[in-house]
Parts: sequence; structure tokens; C-alpha cells
Amino acid sequence: MSPVRGRCIVLGVTGGIAAYKAAEVCRRLVGAGAHVVPVLTAGALRMVGETTFSALASEPAVTSLWSDPSSAIPHTSLGRRADAVVVCPATARLISDLRTGRSGDVLTATLLATRAPVIVAPAMHTEMWEQPSVQDNVAVLAERGVTIVGPVEGPLAGGDIGSGRMAEPAEIVTAIEAVLTPQSLAGRRVLVTSGGTREPIDAVRFVGNRSSGKQGAAVASEAAARGAEVVLVTTEPDRAPAAARVVAVETAAEMAAAVELEAPGADAVVMAAAVADFRPARPAGTKLKKGLGVPALELQPTRDILASLGASKSPGQVLVGFAAETEDLETNALIKLRSKNLDVIVANDVSKEHVGFGHDTNEIVMYTADGARHHVPLTTKQEAARVVLDKVAALMPEAP
Ligand code: CTP
Repeated sequence: MSPVRGRCIVLGVTGGIAAYKAAEVCRRLVGAGAHVVPVLTAGALRMVGETTFSALASEPAVTSLWSDPSSAIPHTSLGRRADAVVVCPATARLISDLRTGRSGDVLTATLLATRAPVIVAPAMHTEMWEQPSVQDNVAVLAERGVTIVGPVEGPLAGGDIGSGRMAEPAEIVTAIEAVLTPQSLAGRRVLVTSGGTREPIDAVRFVGNRSSGKQGAAVASEAAARGAEVVLVTTEPDRAPAAARVVAVETAAEMAAAVELEAPGADAVVMAAAVADFRPARPAGTKLKKGLGVPALELQPTRDILASLGASKSPGQVLVGFAAETEDLETNALIKLRSKNLDVIVANDVSKEHVGFGHDTNEIVMYTADGARHHVPLTTKQEAARVVLDKVAALMPEAP
């Protein structure tokens, strides 16, 4: 469940050309179950229509301190109701007002009247963004605990290209979700593995599998968002979230060595990687030439990393395995849960459409050692990661 579900978010929109993208932020937040109240400044109303936001949001847009005759103090009620206040786009003026505590309209008054976390997505031309005054204001806000999202490099109004472009709506929503995520793994160490291992046949060829590393990356980013210190051992380092410490590996043996090093001291280990069960027994050091004929590929088993962890599990450590199946999902998953001494197994039927390998979506069934079963219908890998980590956090013993 998205952490914005059921939460009240005041969406402030100021007069930058990126204001039209705030409509998409609004739509995404409402889609994720948030209660969104848009607050548009006079500048914003020159860029976008009030009706657009009133239609997309959970309540009509607020455009003035005086627009609702039944409420003489809309800013204080908005400020108190808000679980988060987000300003996107935020102009240089809004940023300056927020720093100095100036309240000239309903948005700046609401920002003063709230104790909720504030998220600001600046958007302006490069020259403005790079002004020492603006940079100084942003630095002070960040120091005070305001979350600053972006800006990024890219095309700006008028055909210019440079830094100052507002962060994309998806990134802004992710930042809001991060701010509202309960820190259920604060102070914990979580080790995650992801991607498919590649077992060399010769200097250029390998035996591999279809794992993209997306589900493991989602678990890593979600664990970090919940306050955990995250180590990601992966064959797909380019997918790793910035918040994780990354150990890049290629083969099952390298993954085993890295996990062996990192697992002691981890409060939870989530083995989302698709580890090869067999590897070529004698990989050639150079490229095999096809003129020399079809090579016979002798395979030998790899070590089962997860089974080793299960056999030497330290007290309180939560062990999570994954089972990608194409038939008998439950039977196979439960066998793996028991035989590897796991606390949780996350099973998916990868023969189904949009499930698992390579997709951004997944359908999982989670089985726990206490006999519980939790089915998560087709959803995003991020959402699947949330469900898994809710369980991991619940299974962890109280922090000492
Ligand atoms: N795993 C592991 N080391 C291996 C193989 C798998 O740690 N050498 C882990 C995977 O990361 C995953 C779980 O074990 O969490 C998968 O279990 P496994 O029984 O190995 O699944 P498959 O390899 O698909 O086995 P099977 O061929 O029996 O389905």
C-alpha cells in the first residue's frame, strides 16, 4: 500500500511553466489513494486552469485566502490537516518567501501554518537557479528539513536547455512517498541480492537467466526508504537505488562470497537474485572458435547460498527467499521454505503474463514459516516490495 494512501496532501502550485505537470502529480497522488487539496497562487492561475485541479483533486482548488466565505482562516485549517505540503513547481520567489517566513497569499500562509513535512520541487531558468541567492535559500531550507526534489537538466521554457527543469512527476511522487514512509527499518541492516548470475562458458559466452534485477532493486530502495542501511549484491548495478551500498558481482560463486561477507550482522537477508544452480565445469579462458566444432558443456552444481544462510542463521535474522515457478507454485514454494530454513518465501508464477522476469509488475504469494499465506494480485514491483518488507519488519525482534 502506498504510504500516501489516506493521507492529506496539500499540493501547492506556483507560477512556473511546469505548473501543467503538477496536474500529473495530482492525478498520481489521487490514484495512489491520497486526499489531495490543490492550492494555486495567482501566478499559477496564469499558467493553468483552476478547473483542471478541482476536477483531478479530492477537493476544489483553493486560490485565495478569501475564496471560501465559510472559512476565514483557510491557511490554518489546511496547515493542520496536511500530512505533507508539496510545492511543485516552486519559483525562486516561493523559495525566498519560505526561507524568510513571508506570507503574502494562501500558499505561503499555509506553509507557515503547518508542522507537516514540506517538499519543494524548484523550477526556473538556469541563470535564476544558479544565483547564489537562490542556492543559499535552497541550502537553508534543506538544512531546516525541507525536502528538495530536483531540479534536473533538460529543456526549459523558450527552447533553452540547462539545469532548472522541474523533476518529473513520478520522481516528485516518490519523494512524497519517501517522506511519508514509516521508518520501520531504522537502525537495521538489510542485505538484498538481485539479478541473474552469469556463469562463463568461455571468455565471451555465459549461461544466464532472464532475471532483470528489478524486484530486488525495488526491495533495496524500499528498505532504504524505511530507514535501513542497505547492501545490494547484484549482477545489475545500473538498476541499484542510490541509497544502497552496491557490491557488483557476475557469477554465483562471486555472489556467494559477497553474501558470506555481508550476511553476518544483517538483520534481514532478502535473496531476490536468480542464482544459477549449475555452472560450466571448465570455462575456457579464451573464445571458443566455432570452426573447432560443437563443444560439450559439462555442468557442475553451484553452492546454494540461501540454504547455507538458513543452515547457519543467527538468532533473530530474518531470511527471505524467492521462488520463480512455472507449475505447482504452492508445493514448490513450501518445500523451499522448509528445506532452506527460511522465515518467508516469495513465490511467483513466471509463466503468467506481466509477472516476474523483466517486467515492472509482479504477482506474488508470500508464505511464512508460521503457516500464513498472503496473495498480492498483479501490482508494481515497488508495491510487492512494500508487502515483503512489511512482513520482514513485523518478524524482526524488537531492537535492543
Ligand atoms: N538460491 C541461492 N543459491 C543458489 C540457488 C538459489 O541462494 N545456488 C536462492 C535464490 O536466490 C532464491 C531461492 O534460492 O531466493 C530459489 O530457490 P531454488 O530452490 O534454488 O530455486 P530454483 O533455483 O528455481 O530451484 P528449482 O530448480 O528447484 O526450482
